Amino acid sequence: MLVKRLTRKFRAVCLRLAQQTATSRTYVLGTTDPKPLLGKVAVVTGGSGALGRAIVQRLAVEGATVYALGRDASRLASVVAEGVALGAEVHGSQVDLSDDAAVESFFADLPRLDILVCSAGGSERDAAAPIWQQSMAVIDDVIASNLRTTIQCVAAASRRMLGEGGRIVCLSSVIGERGKARFSGYAASKAGIIGFVRAAAIELGEQDIRINVVSPGQIPRGDLSPDQLVWQRSSNVLGEVGAHEDIAEAVAYLVGDGGRFITGHNLVVDGGRSLGLRGDAK
Ligand SMILES: NC(=O)c1ccc[n+]([C@@H]2O[C@H](COP(=O)([O-])OP(=O)(O)OC[C@H]3O[C@@H](n4cnc5c(N)ncnc54)[C@H](OP(=O)(O)O)[C@@H]3O)[C@@H](O)[C@H]2O)c1
Repeated sequence: MLVKRLTRKFRAVCLRLAQQTATSRTYVLGTTDPKPLLGKVAVVTGGSGALGRAIVQRLAVEGATVYALGRDASRLASVVAEGVALGAEVHGSQVDLSDDAAVESFFADLPRLDILVCSAGGSERDAAAPIWQQSMAVIDDVIASNLRTTIQCVAAASRRMLGEGGRIVCLSSVIGERGKARFSGYAASKAGIIGFVRAAAIELGEQDIRINVVSPGQIPRGDLSPDQLVWQRSSNVLGEVGAHEDIAEAVAYLVGDGGRFITGHNLVVDGGRSLGLRGDAK
């Protein structure tokens, strides 16, 4: 641990010194440490979800002690079992994020906190409807489970990170930037996360806390039929199918040394699907 911390400090000092020299200089390369997050404590809300699980396992195999948060005990137990099978340290914590007191006491009781990933949330799904038919109960629920939980967890986590620094990543969606018919509540909640993170980044920067957004595009949740596979490939400009690991990779980059100079950013991971118009018919 000490060697790792000294190596990091040394790299930071080298970077600072190099910045004061001429423009032509030798680059200070990153380490090839196989466990770059060793000694770090990470919390992943929604850690039992489809993307959340991939993020938990990625941070854990990089050496972090990870707390996966969710409501369903059996889903949390299987995330912990996966972590154990990988030889990693993963804990499952049953916390309902709509319970402010439970959230506060969870963060207050942590031994330390270096990384927070806010992945809990979800869309209207079966209750999706045009806004003129949508009920305010569904809208309230979607905004609470995506936006309010994110703000609440960032507030509680940043209180723990003050004076120590930290990394925060909040999951939004390309729908937050581009919108989607019948999902206006979800679009509003995810757009809210992007705005919130920009404002929080300005406040948290001077506290050595970096906060960014990862916006996934469509990531299939289960097995795909041949037709679905063709559609998925044709839906983005790369002709690829998005995987849970692609999102975990983006999160790992932002919370790792690579994210040293990045804050308030929205990293879109969607194979270019949301880029814009695809051209005219041939
Ligand atoms: N999957 C995609 O294609 C995609 C695309 C774009 C954006 N996203 C965003 O990425 C994030 C992760 O997606 P996902 O696919 O992992 O979602 P998911 O499979 O639906 O999982 C949602 C997670 O959030 C937790 N959760 C929801 N409300 C909670 C609450 N009040 N208290 C505690 N935990 C709560 C759930 O725990 P319980 O089950 O225990 O309640 C579960 O762990 C979400 O914010 C989603 O909107 C996903």
